[in-house]
Amino acid sequence: MITIKTPEEIEILSEGGKILASILDDVSSKVGAGISTKELDTRAYNLIKKAGGNPSFLGYKSRDSKTAYPASLCVSINNEIVHGIPSEDRILKEGDIVSLDFGMEYKKLFTDMSITVGVGEISQKASNLIDITKKSLSGGIKSLRGGVFPEDYGFVVQSIVEKAGFSIIKELVGHGVGYAVHEDPDIPNYGKKGKGFEFKEGMVVALEPMACIGNSDIVLADDGWTWKTKDGSLSAHFEHTVAIEKDGCRILTRQ
Ligand code: MF3
Ligand code: CO
Repeated sequence: MITIKTPEEIEILSEGGKILASILDDVSSKVGAGISTKELDTRAYNLIKKAGGNPSFLGYKSRDSKTAYPASLCVSINNEIVHGIPSEDRILKEGDIVSLDFGMEYKKLFTDMSITVGVGEISQKASNLIDITKKSLSGGIKSLRGGVFPEDYGFVVQSIVEKAGFSIIKELVGHGVGYAVHEDPDIPNYGKKGKGFEFKEGMVVALEPMACIGNSDIVLADDGWTWKTKDGSLSAHFEHTVAIEKDGCRILTRQ
């Protein structure tokens, strides 16, 4: 079932989204060679608690996950696409690219956001992948308003990624959000124009293109959570929670 949020709920989501964006900004400023992914997770946890929120991924169980997610933040390095589990043993090194994905429950409503950043100096190709993935999200967001089809959004995202010579991950998708971490509908990051249901004013969705340098096939790691590219190629991921409006949309996860 696709839910419609009230204007009051959207205000609260926007308040939470602002906090989430500022926390992610803080955590990303700590990304550097020598830091463990667990340290980033702990920082995110402490900051969200201090802000009066709850980390919504901690203890989360999805329909098909066997275990509850054990951390607050998802930290996915290089060929890891999403849902990398923070660990004391994962130390970032110069040249890595890392996706930080964080979800917040604030005043009972949920927002979701992710960014990808480089560790120190990164290759031209990696930097280009990050840029294009980010542009695909902003391009997709610009296409949104009431009456647009989700696949039109997907078409825009996919075109931007593929024109640059990269691949869009197809098996992982965006989703409705707000009353829960994941709600209906699924929002693919690819598509054919004019297909699917229509976006309506008051829908709140988490849009999250994932792109990689090589082939788009994916594999699940033994930890049961981390999705990786099958060919080991680098992958980037950006995500915003947005509210659909009549003539456009409002990005909720920004400072
Ligand atoms: N932003 C992630 C997603 O939409 C959140 C996943 S929940 C987690 O898939 F438990 F896997 F972290
Ligand atoms: Co999400």
